[in-house]
Amino acid sequence: MSKDKKYRSSDWFNSTTHRRDTFIHRGWMRNQGHPTHLFDGRPVIGICNTWSELTPCNGHFREIAEFVRRGVYEAGGFPLEFPVFSASESNLRPTAMLFRNLASMDVEEAIRGNPMDGVVLLMGCDKTTPSLLMGAASCDLPTIGVSGGPMLNGHHQGDVIGSGTGLWKLDADLNAGLISEEDFVGAEISMSRSKGHCMTMGTASTMASMVESLGMALPHNAAIPAVDARRYSNAFHSGKRIVEMVKENLIMSKIITKESFENAIIVNGAIGGSTNAVIHMAAIAGRMEIDLTLDDWERCGKEIPTLVNLQPSGTYLMEDFYYAGGVPAVIKRLLDKGLLNKDALTVNGKTINENNNKSACWNDEVIRTFDNPLTKDGGIKVLKGNIAPDGAILKPSAASPHLMKHTGKVVVFESVEEFHEKIHDSNLEVDENSILVLKNCGPKGYPGMAEVGNMIIPQKLLKKGVRDMIRISDARMSGTAYGTVILHTSPEAAVKGPLAAVQNGDEIKVDVENGLMQLLVDDQAIKERLNSYKPVLPEIHGGYQEMYVNHVMQADKGADLDFLVGRRNSEVKRHSH
Ligand code: FES
Repeated sequence: MSKDKKYRSSDWFNSTTHRRDTFIHRGWMRNQGHPTHLFDGRPVIGICNTWSELTPCNGHFREIAEFVRRGVYEAGGFPLEFPVFSASESNLRPTAMLFRNLASMDVEEAIRGNPMDGVVLLMGCDKTTPSLLMGAASCDLPTIGVSGGPMLNGHHQGDVIGSGTGLWKLDADLNAGLISEEDFVGAEISMSRSKGHCMTMGTASTMASMVESLGMALPHNAAIPAVDARRYSNAFHSGKRIVEMVKENLIMSKIITKESFENAIIVNGAIGGSTNAVIHMAAIAGRMEIDLTLDDWERCGKEIPTLVNLQPSGTYLMEDFYYAGGVPAVIKRLLDKGLLNKDALTVNGKTINENNNKSACWNDEVIRTFDNPLTKDGGIKVLKGNIAPDGAILKPSAASPHLMKHTGKVVVFESVEEFHEKIHDSNLEVDENSILVLKNCGPKGYPGMAEVGNMIIPQKLLKKGVRDMIRISDARMSGTAYGTVILHTSPEAAVKGPLAAVQNGDEIKVDVENGLMQLLVDDQAIKERLNSYKPVLPEIHGGYQEMYVNHVMQADKGADLDFLVGRRNSEVKRHSH
C-alpha cells in the first residue's frame, strides 16, 4: 500500500498516521466484498446516480452505472456508486424546480464528505442535470457528465409524436373537441415507448447538449438514445476517462470557463434549446464564480440561426438528431463559421475544435445548413422595459413571427389558481390580439417557479382556430412547450417587481427585434400601483420551502439559493474516531 498521499481518497484509505481511522474507512467498506488491492491508493471514482423509479426518465441508470463501473475498473480505478436526490419532472410536486437547489446541496455534500477523487454524474430528467453540475461545481473535482439519453421517437395513430410537445397539441385538440378522450389516453404509452428522457428538444435534451457543448461530456453524449448500445459504450468510455482525468488533475474549473459558456449559448441557439437553459446555466456559472448574465445570452445568441429541426420548434426528434450527427455535427457547422471559442478544453483533454472539426452531418433536413436554417434568429431573446428592468426571455424559434411586434390589451391573472378558474370562462373579455399576463409564479411567488408560463389559449379562441397569443409571466415554461411566450420576467411580482403593476385593460407593447417590452402606463401611475400592491403569496409551513423562499434569488441570477453561490472546493476536515 502506498505511503504517499497520492489522491484525496488516500486520506481515508491509506493514512499511516491515523491507523484506527483508516481501519474504519477501509474495514467497513470491505463488508461489500471489495478486495484489499482496491485500497492501494488508486483513484476512487464516485458514480453519482439519480436513479429512481419515481424519476422514470432515469429508471435505467443502474444499467448505465454498470457500464461506467466497468470502464473505471478497466482503467485501474475503484468505482463506488452513490445515490442522490432525484428530481422527477413528471411526478414531483409542487414543481421539480423547487428541489433543484436542494438536490445540488445533496450532491455537493455527498461528494465533499466522501472518499472520492473524481466523479461521474449520471443525469437525465430535466433538473437532474443542473442539480448535479451545480453541486459538483461547488466541489471542483475532476468530473465527467454521462447523460441517460432520450427515449425513442413516439408513434401514435400513424403520427410521430414527441414528449410534451405532442401532449400540448393533443390537449388543445381535446379542448377544441377534435379528438376523443380515448384517443387522448391511448397516446400515453405510444409517446413514452422506451427508456430515456423526453425526446423533444425540451429541457433534458437541451441540458444534455449544454453539457456536451460546455466540454463536460464525451462527444455524442447528448443525443444517443437511451436504449442504443452506443449509450452504454459511451458510459464505459466515460468511466475509463475519469480515471485518467484524476491522474491529470483535470478539475471542473479547467473545463468550464466563460468561453465554454459562450460556446454553449451559441449551441443553444443553433439547437433551438429550452428557455430553462438560461436559468440553469446562470446557476451553474454562479457556482463556478463565472460572471454570466442575460446580456451574454443576448450578445452570443444574436443572429445565431436555429439549425436543428426538432420539436417543439420544428419537426423531428432526438433519435433523428443522433442519426443525423448529433451535437458534434452542429458544433462542426458553428466551427466552420468561426462562431465558437475553438480552444475551449473538454473532458477528454482535447479542445472542442479537435473533437468536432471532422464531424459529419448525415441529414441536412434534420440538421439544417446555414443557408437553409429552421429560423434565422434562434438565440434566446432578452426583452427589457419598464415591466422587466432585469429582463425577461423569449424563444423566437418556438414563437409566431406575426406576434414578434405587437401591442395588445392585457388580460391579467393574479395567480395560477385565478388563471385556471377564469381562462375558459365564456365571458372573459379576450380576443386573439389580447396579451395574457400571469403574476406571482416566479421563484418566490410560486416557490420553484412553476412551468406555467405557456398559458392555455382560452377555449373560445381555440374553437376559432387561434393557436398562439402573446403570454407574459414571471414563470418558466416546459422546454417542450412552444408559442409566443415571454418568461422569467424579473424582478417577479411577488417581490413587487413592476410586473405587479399591470392591470386589466392596460396595453403592453412587445418589440422582439428591439428587445423591448413596455407597459404603456406612465411611471407615476406604475409607482402608485406598486405602493398599494399586495402580492398573492403562498402559504409556507416551514421546512425546506421556508429556507427556499427566504434565500432564492431572482430568475436572471439563476434562482439559486444566495448562500450556495460559489466554489467551496473539496477540502474537508478529518473526523477522527
Ligand atoms: Fe423527464 Fe421530460 S419528464 S425529461
